Amino acid sequence: MKVFRTIHEFKRVRSQWRAEGKTVGLVPTMGALHEGHLSLVRQAKGQTDLVAVSIFVNPAQFGPHEDFQKYPRRFQQDLELLAREKVDAVFAPDAAELYPAGFKTYVMSEELGEKLCGLSRPGHFRGVATIVMKLFGIVQPNIAFFGQKDAQQLLLIRQMVKDLNLDLQIVGCPIVREPDGLAMSSRNRYLTPEERQASLVLHRCLEWAKREVDQGKNSTDGVLEGIRKMVSAEPLARLDYAELVDPDDLSPRANISGHETLLALAVYIGKTRLIDNCLIPPL
Ligand code: PAJ
Repeated sequence: MKVFRTIHEFKRVRSQWRAEGKTVGLVPTMGALHEGHLSLVRQAKGQTDLVAVSIFVNPAQFGPHEDFQKYPRRFQQDLELLAREKVDAVFAPDAAELYPAGFKTYVMSEELGEKLCGLSRPGHFRGVATIVMKLFGIVQPNIAFFGQKDAQQLLLIRQMVKDLNLDLQIVGCPIVREPDGLAMSSRNRYLTPEERQASLVLHRCLEWAKREVDQGKNSTDGVLEGIRKMVSAEPLARLDYAELVDPDDLSPRANISGHETLLALAVYIGKTRLIDNCLIPPL
């Protein structure tokens, strides 16, 4: 497994791969890898000849009061995990390599980037779309792999690929959870033992909502009200948002029956903001 620090070096090996007629899969990450990330790597290994993983904590997607500085960085451990998965290349540039002085061009995702997480994290999806577009330009993958854990991000990237006529396929991968249901996330490391226990409220809400709908309760307001109650009953938790939306464009659903619905949640556990979601099948 080779580690690349510069765009120039990576592009050289990319041309070589093209000359050899190999297909390339890309798994973009911010590191502090866990089984969720590794599930994407395994999916990529099954679908392409060569797999590249990028590790870059992207300053452009963090707000001024967010956790960019304290975001977990575990580079050596990450490399060991990726070597074990037999990843072919790791692209891990520093910020000056990707955002040199004079950098001026950003990708904006109108509408999709302004809903759900975009409301509490202004500018976040502009940072995401920009870095992912840059990674696509550098790595030139045939297929790129993203987790359904970040459902809004996945949707926005699919839309970007379509709108900007990019020549690659996007594959969405299922959410990987801890045995007790908490969705894996690099940010789970911030949680104290008490907060870790409290964090289960997210999964509890999703499971409860699925059961409610399954039992024929199809009122959006009823489901959202139930979730608000469950979150406020947990002293360490504070709801950022809970929404039932159309999974294709994130517009709010007035009614759940008759179509697949995305239930998306963001909850603060102490100071840590966690997200989770599930798809509710049509009734
Ligand atoms: P990061 O949070 O490191 O996640 C990298 C990829 O792993 C994303 O596609 C994310 O959806 C996926 N992922 C994270 N947790 C997962 C889980 N529990 N199950 C399945 N997949 C999971 O998302 C980012 O980084 C950044 O925004 C990035 C796309 C790299 C751009 O900077």
